Amino acid sequence: MPKKILNQNQTPLYSAIINYTAEGTIPFHVPGHKQGRGNKELTDILGQNCINMDLTCMEDLDNICNPVSAIKEAEELAAQLYGADKAYFLVNGTTSGIQAMIMSVCEPGDKIILPRNVHKSAIGGIILSGAKPVYVHTEINEQFGIAMGVKTEDIAAALESNPDAKAVFLMNPIYYGIASNLKEIVSLAHSYNIPVIVDEAHGAHLVFDERLPQSSMEAGADLAASSTHKLGGSLTQSSLLLLQGSLINPQKLKATLNLTQTTSPSYILLASLDIARKQLALKGQQMIEDTYELAIWAGERIKKIEGVQVMDEEVLNYQGSYAYDPTKIVINVRDLGLSGYDVEKILRKKYHIQVELSDLFNIIILVSLGDNKETLSILIDALAEIAKGQKLHNVFKYFVPLPAIPESVISPRDAFYAETGPVPLCEAEGEISAEMIMAYPPGIPIICPGERITQDVIDYVNILKKETAELQGTEDPDMVNIKVLKNRLVLVQNEEKLNQEAI
Ligand SMILES: Cc1ncc(COP(=O)(O)O)c(C=O)c1O
Repeated sequence: MPKKILNQNQTPLYSAIINYTAEGTIPFHVPGHKQGRGNKELTDILGQNCINMDLTCMEDLDNICNPVSAIKEAEELAAQLYGADKAYFLVNGTTSGIQAMIMSVCEPGDKIILPRNVHKSAIGGIILSGAKPVYVHTEINEQFGIAMGVKTEDIAAALESNPDAKAVFLMNPIYYGIASNLKEIVSLAHSYNIPVIVDEAHGAHLVFDERLPQSSMEAGADLAASSTHKLGGSLTQSSLLLLQGSLINPQKLKATLNLTQTTSPSYILLASLDIARKQLALKGQQMIEDTYELAIWAGERIKKIEGVQVMDEEVLNYQGSYAYDPTKIVINVRDLGLSGYDVEKILRKKYHIQVELSDLFNIIILVSLGDNKETLSILIDALAEIAKGQKLHNVFKYFVPLPAIPESVISPRDAFYAETGPVPLCEAEGEISAEMIMAYPPGIPIICPGERITQDVIDYVNILKKETAELQGTEDPDMVNIKVLKNRLVLVQNEEKLNQEAI
């Protein structure tokens, strides 16, 4: 039966919120600030309209755990806009959606096929679910020093060796805007009856411009978590989880989502999803097309600056990069003799410009619905001035080869919950890591919980430290120590003791 076309002019949830205040309802419920009366300073700062919207679940405002009215209607509108069968509002960021996606398809010990350069929320989902990751190699772009998408052949090989996998997990696109051939991978995975679940944190806008990589739902993926707050115009933390097809059990998905989401959703965030969806439905195509043109305009100008390179369609010559999103302007600054971190700092301190992300070689400029030629011209002029002041030389003489994916000894979950202790990283060869080390570039976990630390991993981390690359993931902020599994530690200590006694 054809689906009823819904009226995208409506904002059922936002309207319910407005009705609540318009009726002059006296609140004897949380939040305890009671429409701001209990916190005047906060009300003055945020404004009365905003604080009035900070409400809680009740009959007319629906309940996020089991929506039957206003939230359900708002979710149906979002589903229709994105071409999904169902949409779920998320208020704990895309992270909660990614965790729920993985937990709803994988039980402890189940395999999940995924690229190595996933966001840490996916590793979190793997730890929570107890899944066993089967990593797929990602091509490294040496010019930009980053990991790209995955090749369909590599997913095919992983599926052939692991036909019992419970899901293929992909990013569409990666942080740097590069997308794999999602449609091809989806049909391949579906031929094994395996669902494809997608981290679409950077893809809320894809569906509105054909020149952008294809969206997960258009490519036939089963599940996707999409950060409406990043590129769709809603407030930070508000995202969508999209579902289609019959490979995922919606009841299990919703039950899992109720584990990863709060029972006290912010109605300000929920309303922002409803309002952003309406804007995207009515004006999204024009707005995203304009954004695309603007980004191309800016990228062309930045390219003319001597000493910088801008990622463009040439990136498609790399295997595993099937499409790319130019609204993320990836600017390589290595020929300026500056790192991306340096340029980020100069832009911020001297020009009051903040970039989206910097790494050893690049900065990323995010062009979105809120930008215009005026703001971008300020950036272009600032970059030109920085470049003019630099002697052109490449300080990073070689590209540091990435160590091989280390041997996985136990599951990330078992490593996470095992007894652990810190050891100096320089002495950690052979230990089983209980932590993840993540570096930009190339945006790949160098070691994950449960993997054996190799000398190559230690050397690589030391090289990145020397280059002042940003390393994240260990409890020790300086990454001098790494948490490893204690059993192995005790074994080593006992061995040392025995050796000493023998001497
Ligand atoms: C690739 C990717 N996936 C997932 C996330 C998590 O999204 P959120 O911050 O909405 O939880 C991010 C956040 O930056 C991301 O970059």
